[in-house]
Amino acid sequence: MLARYLGSKQAILDELLTTVGRHCTPGSHVVDAFSGSLAVSLGLKKSGYRVTANDINLFSHVLAEAYLVPSQLPQCDAKSLVPAARRDEATATAQSSIEKLDGSPGFGFLKEPEHRRRYQDFLMLLHHLSTLQPQDLPVGDRRNHFLDTYCEEGGNSAYVSSRGAEGRRRFFTEENARRIDLVMNQIRSWHRSERVDAPTYALLLATFLRAVEKVSNTQGTYHDFPRSTWDSRALRPLTFDPPALDVITEGSPGPHLAGREQDSLDFVAKAGRHDLLYLDPPYNFRQYSAYYFLPNVLCRYPEMADPDDYFSKVRFVRGQNPEDDFTSTFCKPKHFIEDMGTLIERADCDTVVISYFTGRNHWSKFDTERSDTGLEMLSGLLEGDLFEPGSLTVTEIPRRNYASYGGYQARTVAELILVATKRRDQSRGTAPSPSGRLQPVA
Ligand SMILES: C[S@@+](CC[C@H](N)C(=O)[O-])C[C@H]1O[C@@H](n2cnc3c(N)ncnc32)[C@H](O)[C@@H]1O
Repeated sequence: MLARYLGSKQAILDELLTTVGRHCTPGSHVVDAFSGSLAVSLGLKKSGYRVTANDINLFSHVLAEAYLVPSQLPQCDAKSLVPAARRDEATATAQSSIEKLDGSPGFGFLKEPEHRRRYQDFLMLLHHLSTLQPQDLPVGDRRNHFLDTYCEEGGNSAYVSSRGAEGRRRFFTEENARRIDLVMNQIRSWHRSERVDAPTYALLLATFLRAVEKVSNTQGTYHDFPRSTWDSRALRPLTFDPPALDVITEGSPGPHLAGREQDSLDFVAKAGRHDLLYLDPPYNFRQYSAYYFLPNVLCRYPEMADPDDYFSKVRFVRGQNPEDDFTSTFCKPKHFIEDMGTLIERADCDTVVISYFTGRNHWSKFDTERSDTGLEMLSGLLEGDLFEPGSLTVTEIPRRNYASYGGYQARTVAELILVATKRRDQSRGTAPSPSGRLQPVA
């Protein structure tokens, strides 16, 4: 999972789940229409609800396929996937990790012998990905797109900024970029030859996203990189942490569903009847598909028919292919309230819970005191015709905001949870169909 995600609700998960618990019972269907890092969807699953998640970003779909949708650990044939010469070493390393992890939080699934066996196989794949060398791959599978594009030493990493500054991208050290390429080449080859099934594939990518995040030279997002320095984390070698997988086995067995890169304005009408709609939209101008483009590229790479063509089109200082960008209308103050209203109107649900924030949003800036304009506009929406009169409640959770912006100091901000009951005659919707592809925005 991603640990550094703008707007993650991990810190207020308990309050959110308490709020949801006032309106739902175990087995209730909850839709998380801006699922992001999956923090809330997984909390809902653990609490016993059936969850449908969707986000415009591909990595969120992959996280959902890895952790939300399955209720059993994936099964892979490590013996056929790990080269014979390193199989014993991979087995010994996996067994030794499991012994150390036994009894740790998040590893309760190890008590079940079948899950323990499956986990050993999965850790053997991780060991192989950590130690794999170019000669382990067929010549045609050895590509260097990540080194080339996101590393100073690469041939495709030069940029010119909109202000004319020139340089080379430095998201990764050369050593880590070479490892990223090897891992991507191997996962791509396994995926395209159908040697790993879909749940194993998703869990490999999800584990890899976290490993890459830990060594990325960023200040949290991939919108940019420190132009002349290295974050000390980026200088460490890329390593895979054995993932804690109680999130897969605990809580509601589902069925859970994951939309794929759909605009939630469309998706919500296809999500079917649900008890509660949870909305945690972007609150300001930051476009998540640009800020987190690199996790999306890592998830898309194994599916690319022609990676050379894809990487020949990267643009901007950060090196994103513009065809992989999406302009969310929720990031525009002009559309935010109207689109929230449209989305809610299209949802066939009883209760709507909205997360909002008094920090930097469309109507309040880092350098100004708190402005409640956004809260007032959302409250107006939740007190309007779509809702039961008098049903709106607003809860404030103060917290310290450490986000830096142009040198402004940390300050106390409030996380807001708005809840209202939809009027019965305002429900609509169709059967669930959470599939589809990102439509590039002109
Ligand atoms: C505040 S974040 C959600 C954070 C999430 N609740 C968590 O805890 O990680 C907003 C999310 O909305 C997604 N998003 C923005 N516009 C969207 C749209 N039109 N449809 C679907 N998702 C969208 C972004 O990709 C981002 O993940």
